[in-house]
Amino acid sequence: MSGSALYETFARAPLAFDHGEGTWLVTDKGERYLDFAGGIAVNSLGHSHPHLVAALTEQAAKLWHVSNLYEIPGQSRLGERLADATFADKVFFTNSGAEALECAIKTARRYHFVKGHPERFRVITFEGAFHGRTLATIAAGGQYKYLEGFGPKVEGFDQVGFDDIDAAEKAITPETAAILIEPVQGEGGIRPVPTQSLKRLRQLCDQHGRLLIYDEVQCGIGRTGKLFAHEWSGVAPDIMAIAKGIGGGFPMGACLATDEAAVGMTAGVHGTTFGGNPLAMAVGNAVLDVVLEDGFLEDVQRKALLMKQGLAAIADEFPDVIEDIRGTGLMLGLKCAMPNNKVNMALRDQHLLAVPAGDNVIRLLPPLTVTDAEIHEALNRIRAGAKGLADAIAVAAAK
Ligand SMILES: Cc1ncc(COP(=O)(O)O)c(C=O)c1O
Repeated sequence: MSGSALYETFARAPLAFDHGEGTWLVTDKGERYLDFAGGIAVNSLGHSHPHLVAALTEQAAKLWHVSNLYEIPGQSRLGERLADATFADKVFFTNSGAEALECAIKTARRYHFVKGHPERFRVITFEGAFHGRTLATIAAGGQYKYLEGFGPKVEGFDQVGFDDIDAAEKAITPETAAILIEPVQGEGGIRPVPTQSLKRLRQLCDQHGRLLIYDEVQCGIGRTGKLFAHEWSGVAPDIMAIAKGIGGGFPMGACLATDEAAVGMTAGVHGTTFGGNPLAMAVGNAVLDVVLEDGFLEDVQRKALLMKQGLAAIADEFPDVIEDIRGTGLMLGLKCAMPNNKVNMALRDQHLLAVPAGDNVIRLLPPLTVTDAEIHEALNRIRAGAKGLADAIAVAAAK
């Protein structure tokens, strides 16, 4: 017994937060941390955003939950707003990213089923992908560390190298239903997929009659300075999974699809108890109110540039600590020249929260509402953390 009643599945930092204020988290001891982890790209509008608090509390006083057996006006409204703002015509609401992905995969398989191709059920994915922790989504992600010990890998996922579009083309078989990709890989190490690659994937899918699925669970909802990351490329998918930022901290997700791609998702074939409930919809609509305000996304782009330039200068100054800066918008990564966990600890010592990712990267995912002053403060703290690590390397080398 470890003394805790909780599953030991999380390696938790010894920090407990009592409340949040915008970009700041305050511990139970009153210590303030600058939150550039953002709940791993969840707290899109920071903590305790007044518009979100008002939306949630107003809804809480009226109606928490009704089943999807009934009309839910907030759900219809959010669905229409998401459809208006994107390639999509249809939306299915879920509680999480993994469930949004499950819905996306099921939508693709059902499409081929109703089109007379039930043999098309396989999905091509990319190395470094992360699509969630359900049995199907760990199979889609294809990462051994998440698959090990959970029995046979769910059938139907074929993985090719990151950004290897030639390999994706070769992997298309008569059984392929779809290609699934994160336009910017998050947990894989903040790796944006080049526009040209998305274009080629679109062409491949069109040419072969297969569906293109995006996972924008992490990179969507303004994170890159557009509502969705793929807008930078101008290449639309047929189906897209979203979550995280759309709830701003309230657990929710959604699967978006064109009318055509969703053709197989008819009454009774899929469902959820909690997905799209009135509380979640009130918050999701409130998040969109802010993110779709005139100038909001342009300001994210401006702040992202400020931050990226500042980080690049720090990387230049401390090449033994930070090798490179990658990413786009407020989804930035420090490619570390030393173990990323050490860098993460050094940042935490500076009371700056960040998130380790694959490929030895540290993710910086501040709220989209972060101020210029907070970016400067974060840069000061990152510089101080990097300097401490660089000094320690120099001392060790001199011995
Ligand atoms: C790109 C991506 N897809 C899917 C998921 C799974 O989302 P959830 O943890 O809400 O199931 C995540 C979570 O980190 C993610 O980053």
